[in-house]
Amino acid sequence: MRDVPFCRTTSAAVAGLRRGVAAGMCALALGVADVSEAQAPLPLIGLGQPLEAADIERHAITIFPDGRNLPPGQGSVEQGARLYGQHCVACHGVRGMEGPAARLAGTDGFIAWSDPLRPLRVRRHPLLVLSVGAMWPHATTLFDYVRRAMPMHAPKSLSDDEVYALTAHLLHLNRLVPADAVMNRETLPQVVMPGLARTLNAWPTDR
Ligand code: HEC
Repeated sequence: MRDVPFCRTTSAAVAGLRRGVAAGMCALALGVADVSEAQAPLPLIGLGQPLEAADIERHAITIFPDGRNLPPGQGSVEQGARLYGQHCVACHGVRGMEGPAARLAGTDGFIAWSDPLRPLRVRRHPLLVLSVGAMWPHATTLFDYVRRAMPMHAPKSLSDDEVYALTAHLLHLNRLVPADAVMNRETLPQVVMPGLARTLNAWPTDR
């Protein structure tokens, strides 16, 4: 090939292309090396510690909507009313409606039905109308929440029987169970909450 400017350009381009191909093959080889490295067993870093089955059980306390994982035990509305007076009333009020903390009963939230500006206020502060009785779709969640989070200053301090009793009392405050109701792993999942019809289930169940 005669060394004319055109050919010099062309041969430079070809050389460049070859370099490119070579670089590509290198990358391929490296890529392959990466994969084989990923498959090699990871070095032991030594963080954390193995958990015993009993430890895992202590933390696996999620109660599912259908009542799966509810513990044994039980509690009545009457026992719950007594416990509520000791542990909850200061923040949630005698009827579960007075606050100052979140509303546990009723359908109007912090914005009364009798308030003439209710529709305007609800549009502005939709979260203030949430209450357990009005919005929560599953009674079983009440057990889960109270057991893991309340009373606010001492979460997880209540026994399962106490949580069943408090759940019964809160359901009674919402007129969802009678005054002589007893909640346990059989009766609690049967309580139908008004909130169920107002919510969409992202994880459809059989219920
Ligand atoms: C020191 C104050 C305090 C005490 C005592 C207390 N709570 Fe609460 N509770 C709160 C606050 C604050 C919230 C809102 C928490 C949030 O939204 O993160 C709340 C939320 C709740 C909710 C969820 C309400 C909702 O719709 O989000 C329930 C149910 C509840 N409490 C039950 C109880 C029960 C039962 C007791 C007694 C065993 C209790 N609480 C004691 C402060 C308290």
